[in-house]
Amino acid sequence: PQTTRIPVVQDLALLKNLPQRFIQLASISKSFSHDIPAIDIAKLGGGPESGAAKVEELDKLVSAAKEWGVFFIKNHGIDSCILHDVKDVVKGFFQLSFEEKKASVGSYMSVDNMGYGRNFVKSENQPLDWIDRLTMKAAPRDATQGLHVWPQNPPNFRQVIEKYVEAARELLNGLLQALAESLSLDEHTFLQYFEEEKSEINVRVNYYPPSPRPDLTLGITPHSDASALTLLLQFDSSNGLQVFKGNEWITVKLPNEGLLVSIGDLMEIMSNGRVRSPWHRVVNQMDMDRFSVALFYNPPLEKEIEPVEENEGYKKVNVGAYLKHYYEISPTSSKEAILFAKE
Ligand code: SIN
Ligand code: FE2
Repeated sequence: PQTTRIPVVQDLALLKNLPQRFIQLASISKSFSHDIPAIDIAKLGGGPESGAAKVEELDKLVSAAKEWGVFFIKNHGIDSCILHDVKDVVKGFFQLSFEEKKASVGSYMSVDNMGYGRNFVKSENQPLDWIDRLTMKAAPRDATQGLHVWPQNPPNFRQVIEKYVEAARELLNGLLQALAESLSLDEHTFLQYFEEEKSEINVRVNYYPPSPRPDLTLGITPHSDASALTLLLQFDSSNGLQVFKGNEWITVKLPNEGLLVSIGDLMEIMSNGRVRSPWHRVVNQMDMDRFSVALFYNPPLEKEIEPVEENEGYKKVNVGAYLKHYYEISPTSSKEAILFAKE
């Protein structure tokens, strides 16, 4: 209900003055620009005993996952035509007017942050994020729970995204295996929880209109992702993503092809804190809009994930229960949701 009284950000962006509700006082603190690690996926494949190049890349992977929690992917193996089509349909969707978009998906709402709507609206006085977004459940395809909100327009939207999802699944499965290897664990340690037919993949497409006061707004308020892994596709080299590291906000500088992986809470839990789910946020730009696609990869909802030994005090959690808790308390001002999985 609260979501309908305030016009969508896309329309507010035309007004040139910022409605009160969007002022986030804690918003733009000083930030620094930095290159974040890039992992060459092509070097991670092969049998367990393949070469020095693999060992070196696994080393890079483990330090990126521990110190940053986010890293770029080089040689990701996803066909550039697929990425091109994804960008096309996402821009196509957001370029529609609000009414057209609403008609394309059937409603403007947000249940557990799914569907076309605002980001996490929990109370009347909560500051709002300067973003319009659409979240779909892409897998499992026959899920009975949750919303499947596929836009009718652009007409090939679903087909394109589903193709991307399958390519992404392959990439992320490889990474789950490599992450385990990089921590000197059995290669199936994380992958064992995932199943082709039942794993959850949610896709969120994000549009950040230009902000009249980027110094007072945030595209997405600070949070960590609930997922096991998040694959993030950024468009057109427009910066905006910031990661909190060493007590500072670091602006992620985009290379040409912006495919990033971020560790999520479920992975932090499975690894018992040996890799971390970074706190991150998105800042707005004044004269530029920005698009991104976040793909969240989770084990099937009914799985119990068991943290590896080596104690950071995480306990076994049910995936569905964790996600439910996460959505209940989001947005929070810090990494609070994950305490659910602590003793
Ligand atoms: C996020 O989903 O947290 C950030 C996505 C983006 O970089 O736009
Ligand atoms: Fe995120």
